[in-house]
Amino acid sequence: MTSPDLPAELKAALDGKLRGFSRSDAAGRAASISRTYRSGGGSGTIRSETDALAYALARMPATYAAVIASLNALVEIRPDLAPETLLDVGAGPGTATWAAAEAFPSLQHFTMLDANDALRTLALDLARDSTRLRNTDYQRGEARAVLAKADAADLVVASYMIGEISDAEQRALAELLWQKTHDTLLVVEPGTPAGYARIIALRAHLIDLGAHVAAPCPHDSQCPLQAPDWCHFTQRVQRSRAHKQVKGAELPFEDERFSYVALTRAPVEQHPVRVLAQPAVSKVEITAKLCTPEGLSFAKVPRRAKANYASARRWRWGDAVN
Ligand SMILES: C[S@@+](CC[C@H](N)C(=O)[O-])C[C@H]1O[C@@H](n2cnc3c(N)ncnc32)[C@H](O)[C@@H]1O
Repeated sequence: MTSPDLPAELKAALDGKLRGFSRSDAAGRAASISRTYRSGGGSGTIRSETDALAYALARMPATYAAVIASLNALVEIRPDLAPETLLDVGAGPGTATWAAAEAFPSLQHFTMLDANDALRTLALDLARDSTRLRNTDYQRGEARAVLAKADAADLVVASYMIGEISDAEQRALAELLWQKTHDTLLVVEPGTPAGYARIIALRAHLIDLGAHVAAPCPHDSQCPLQAPDWCHFTQRVQRSRAHKQVKGAELPFEDERFSYVALTRAPVEQHPVRVLAQPAVSKVEITAKLCTPEGLSFAKVPRRAKANYASARRWRWGDAVN
């Protein structure tokens, strides 16, 4: 399992960039960017070097942790997966590229693409002294136009990106993402009902085009959850001093909620059940909400079934269990 904490090289590069910047300016810009996101806007307000750095300090630890959690779930189901090439679409400051580089030592060539100049400049600065990311190419431009000309990659990732484009474009982008995927496509979104709805629409569309789900679902059938329920997971993120300052936060951690889907060209062999919420543990039994190959199930494991109870006690939200 890869750690959800930012790698030391990336932390050092961010700290280096922060020197010479006013933390209160960065905090002000981070607050304004996050207000834009909360009111349904996107990263269009990120225009300057300070904006890009403020965004990275405030959001990169959480989006990085969500991508790592999704990649960890994928690796558990596909332990044989050893991609050599990566395409990071809507790469921003390079978050998913750093995450994939940590999760897959096999990766040798990294291509990022994004329309935002300020984020692209920051991503290149952050990766400049990294030995791991020395074979990195960062294409600038609108995703569909750039993707159309890009080479396909073993692993394609779109992290916190598809929500920034219209529903009609999302369908076309999904097809293009899939076309450029040799092996696995990972799409990660905020763990909100709207983020989940985007994931589920893309999932259904690409299954129709021949994709198979590796994670989180143990099946390629329709999602069994009914609104207002939605499939999402949570990842705890430790906050550094700079992270707390930029967010104006006191707590030493935050919990990032995310939804994701990992789609593969070949059908997966294992179909372990997925734990969809933190199980409720009482003295009598453990109740767990599970997604199974046959659909949704609320399992009750009585304490008297000692061995099963002991293993169910270790279940955590998001785990794949047998
Ligand atoms: C919320 S940021 C996420 C950045 C990064 N993937 C992460 O997880 O931290 C969304 C990114 O998608 C990019 N983006 C949105 N729409 C795009 C488009 N149509 N073409 C290219 N990039 C786009 C934005 O410029 C921005 O960098």
